[in-house]
Amino acid sequence: MINNLPFAIRPYQPAEESQVVTLWHQCKLVVPWNDPHRDIALKLQVQPHLFLVGTLGTAVIATIMAGYEGHRGWLNYLAVSPEHQRHGLGRRMVEEATALLKAEGCPKINLQIRASNTEVIAFYTRLGFTVDDVVSMGKRL
Ligand SMILES: CC(C)(COP(=O)(O)OP(=O)(O)OC[C@H]1O[C@@H](n2cnc3c(N)ncnc32)[C@H](O)[C@@H]1OP(=O)(O)O)[C@@H](O)C(=O)NCCC(=O)NCCS
Repeated sequence: MINNLPFAIRPYQPAEESQVVTLWHQCKLVVPWNDPHRDIALKLQVQPHLFLVGTLGTAVIATIMAGYEGHRGWLNYLAVSPEHQRHGLGRRMVEEATALLKAEGCPKINLQIRASNTEVIAFYTRLGFTVDDVVSMGKRL
């Protein structure tokens, strides 16, 4: 319970788009090369049940976008609103997404964090993630 409201984790609903995008801006997850509205629209076409929100009543205060392509699970757009951080909610979001990925048979989760983002590296380390000895590469399509 937070402020007498239960914290609940469930799949994203389209009516929550503006709340989610506002949260991502607050958490500095919106970058010039990614349109958050387009990212949400794309996710709704692929495994939408793995796009989760954490709510307090009708307020969206956390998100996580997971995916599984048959080999690895991926986590993106993890966010907890600044005023609710450091109370275990980020951990709960990752644990819920992990449970859903595991239920689909996913054997390992990968994720990407900017090397300069030492706080989030510390967060995932607390959750048992380790740094893989790999170079992350990408190509825009
Ligand atoms: C990363 C984020 C989701 C963490 O959420 P949170 O609710 O504050 O994290 P929790 O309270 O669940 O913390 C879980 C553990 O990580 C630790 N932790 C959290 N933030 C930390 C930090 N900045 N530095 C060191 N440790 C941290 C906590 O102490 C806790 O450890 P414990 O369970 O062993 O006591 C939140 O800081 C956030 O939204 N950041 C901005 C968005 C972002 O950068 N997302 C990741 C993109 S890759």
